[in-house]
Amino acid sequence: MKAIVIHDFGGPEQLQLVDRPMPPITHEQVLVAVRVAAVNPIDWRIRKGQLKDFVAYEFPAIMGREVSGVVAQVGAAVRDFAVGDAVLVFLQQRLMHWGGYAEYVPVEAAKLAHKPANLSFEQAAALPVAGHTAWQGLFEVAQLKRGEVVLITGAAGGVGSLAVQLACDAGATVIASASPANHEFVRSLGAALVVDYQAPDFAARIAAQFPAGVDVIFAAFAGVSLQGARPLVHAGTRIVLLSPVATEQDLQIGPVSSQLLIARADGAQLEKIAQLAAQGRLRPQIGPLLPLEQAARAHEMSESHHTRGKILLRVAADDPA
Ligand SMILES: NC(=O)c1ccc[n+]([C@@H]2O[C@H](COP(=O)([O-])OP(=O)(O)OC[C@H]3O[C@@H](n4cnc5c(N)ncnc54)[C@H](OP(=O)(O)O)[C@@H]3O)[C@@H](O)[C@H]2O)c1
Repeated sequence: MKAIVIHDFGGPEQLQLVDRPMPPITHEQVLVAVRVAAVNPIDWRIRKGQLKDFVAYEFPAIMGREVSGVVAQVGAAVRDFAVGDAVLVFLQQRLMHWGGYAEYVPVEAAKLAHKPANLSFEQAAALPVAGHTAWQGLFEVAQLKRGEVVLITGAAGGVGSLAVQLACDAGATVIASASPANHEFVRSLGAALVVDYQAPDFAARIAAQFPAGVDVIFAAFAGVSLQGARPLVHAGTRIVLLSPVATEQDLQIGPVSSQLLIARADGAQLEKIAQLAAQGRLRPQIGPLLPLEQAARAHEMSESHHTRGKILLRVAADDPA
């Protein structure tokens, strides 16, 4: 099968299109024929070796942490999925060897969700990593409740754009930070107030409308957008950090210690997220769609930090002959 692998850590030139043998599956796994693979910032962090102390590797390692596709084979113990089912999944593997930038990937059935018929494979591939991260950050770590005020940074990105919608859907008031070019877009997702994180007075603008500060900060991006929010933090504020390379400054904001989220794959939770999307309550944002062969270009785009919506790689056509 065709796959994009790395043989070592390094720049985008490490991403090579090669032929790999078909992956084996265990009794608890299914083999997914990949239609669309999504590109996440964690992919280039892994490629660069930034996470080598946290993730185990076996080279050549196939890149990619989330896909949509069709079940091609099921293990003997798998009950909820059958050959031909359309699925989506966050590929959270203990050992990075078989990944999503490939024609086939083996997956534990417990991490898979069914793709609703009214979602395209592109929309489905944009949901797992960002959906799990937004859901777990808002509702499990921060325990966001109806009527609370949440500040979401990096709101135009893959995670932030889903977090804005999930928080609005849960009845929270959303303040979002993004570059000016993305303000209209973020407002269209439901944010009540959108600020530019590079404007030195952004916290004052928020405080003018929300003098009691914020109940939750969901920091899809830290740095100035989190540091500048310090005046909005009170002793009861819950702060969720996503960056695996958080600084000491990001970990303590005023009186509050930030909580670092490491998202986990959970098939039952992904079924709920996919259903919200099927009902139109969550709109996955599709960014550039490139052929698998252009994975290096896709990584360069993701590393620019300013693409809007999810960068996708087409692995197979919707109706492969
Ligand atoms: N911990 C976990 O389990 C987990 C899971 C998923 C993702 N993550 C992390 O979460 C972060 C966001 O992921 P993503 O997929 O949403 O990324 P993304 O799609 O690349 O979005 C990044 C967003 O950040 C904004 N941004 C860029 N530079 C910024 C700056 N200096 N200050 C504030 N905002 C800035 C950009 O907005 P503008 O263009 O509007 O400036 C962009 O919309 C990444 O660091 C990723 O590694 C962590």
